[in-house]
Amino acid sequence: MAHEAAVPLSERPAAGGGELASAGPPPSNSGRGTAADVFDAVVNYSSELFKGNFEILRESYVPSRLPHREHQIRQVAEVLAPALKGSVPSNLLIYGKIGTGKTAVVAQVRLDMQRRSDAHGNVAFVNVNCASIDTPYSLLQTIGNSFAETEEQRIPTGWSLDRVQQAMRELMDERGGTLVLILDEIDRLVSRSGDSVLYTLSQLNNDLERGRLAIVGISNDLKFTSNLDARVRSRLNEEKILFPPYDAPQLQDILRDRARDVFRDGVLDAGVIERCAAYAALENGDARRALSLLRVAAQVADREKSKRVTSDHVVKAKSRLERDIILDCVRTLPQHCKVLLYAILQAYERRRTGVLTGEVYEGYARLSQKLGLPPLHSRSISNYLTELESLGLIRATIVSKGRGGRTREIVVDVPTAETIPALEEDELLAQLARRRNLSQTILTNFDNPNRGGPY
Ligand SMILES: Nc1ncnc2c1ncn2[C@@H]1O[C@H](COP(=O)(O)OP(=O)(O)OP(=O)(O)O)[C@@H](O)[C@H]1O
Ligand SMILES: [Mg+2]
Repeated sequence: MAHEAAVPLSERPAAGGGELASAGPPPSNSGRGTAADVFDAVVNYSSELFKGNFEILRESYVPSRLPHREHQIRQVAEVLAPALKGSVPSNLLIYGKIGTGKTAVVAQVRLDMQRRSDAHGNVAFVNVNCASIDTPYSLLQTIGNSFAETEEQRIPTGWSLDRVQQAMRELMDERGGTLVLILDEIDRLVSRSGDSVLYTLSQLNNDLERGRLAIVGISNDLKFTSNLDARVRSRLNEEKILFPPYDAPQLQDILRDRARDVFRDGVLDAGVIERCAAYAALENGDARRALSLLRVAAQVADREKSKRVTSDHVVKAKSRLERDIILDCVRTLPQHCKVLLYAILQAYERRRTGVLTGEVYEGYARLSQKLGLPPLHSRSISNYLTELESLGLIRATIVSKGRGGRTREIVVDVPTAETIPALEEDELLAQLARRRNLSQTILTNFDNPNRGGPY
């Protein structure tokens, strides 16, 4: 990442933002800074806070219990159970907002079913995350290759789509039994590649001789089926389960259940779990958010060498996570908008006070020229300024300039020291980081001739 090499414009955090390093020993203060010091600190460190594996609070951890999802687990299991008796289950669509446990529930049902199917049936699962596998080719190839037993059977890249489809069918027929195909984030597949591959898959049972296919689609876009061809929609929608958002008391139960295995007794102050749950309940009842708040609060407490995790740590965790959201938003801005924001931040760093639009336009024009971008007209710049304002990244106020003249003054609402490196992650803007690096090196060596080096 570009910002790893960047020299600070101002006091910039060493880690470049993002989540704190894993909970664990605080950095050694010995000042010697050798690797041995670090290893000693890790080996000799025993946290006051944790008794169990901190990883339990991470999103990737698959919990064995899912409080308040017992009903949905039963529903999913009931739809898929016929596969254990050799019948083909109905296709199933699972909907619900983010962090409502859809992926976790399906993963748990799958594990339970796999244990039983070893003894009773011939059921295979293929789990595809359509955020990364989002083309018909890669999807059919992934399904086919999950059945390939030898290197020769594997479907290579570069065949025609028809040939991949044919090879996949043959592999499924050779193995026989039922394949439960889990298409997580199925809406991404449709928005990227349309619904033709879903049409192919949903009528595959007509063409297969020994194999059978059931599709479990998971989506947090409640309206995504409205973009589907009517035949595909009715085939996928044979069964439908909606996951409601969690409310605050439910989120508390989920957090307590996970926290029990992580924290030493009594280190969580009264109110910590409640506050994490309350914040997450306000944000769509998202369990992922609730867990992130608790995890980051514990990391902050650990860093501060605190003996307890307090509500203050949760407040700090909340602002840290919000800052991460801001940085993610900055990373996805259109390129011209990034250059414009960069110009504003540079001017703001120089002045440490509101920046007038004239100065912003000049800075933007200078940067565009440096980067070889054809500069935009002032109307487009003005539109981008409005967009940055509506995203909450800047605030603009009208100021009077005497004799009836008026202009806008812009104030920055993002942490400059972290936003600039986030912008410099852009391939084009990375040049600006390198230039700053270079001028900083020249200055440093000029200031300190004993440092040596090329200057
Ligand atoms: N009932 C629950 N008990 C324990 N942990 C849960 C529960 N529900 C969700 N989680 C945890 O919350 C996080 C988010 O859950 P999950 O990934 O299943 O959400 P999702 O509905 O698939 O969200 P998205 O739509 O964003 O993919 C995971 O770490 C998961 O383990
Ligand atoms: Mg999910």
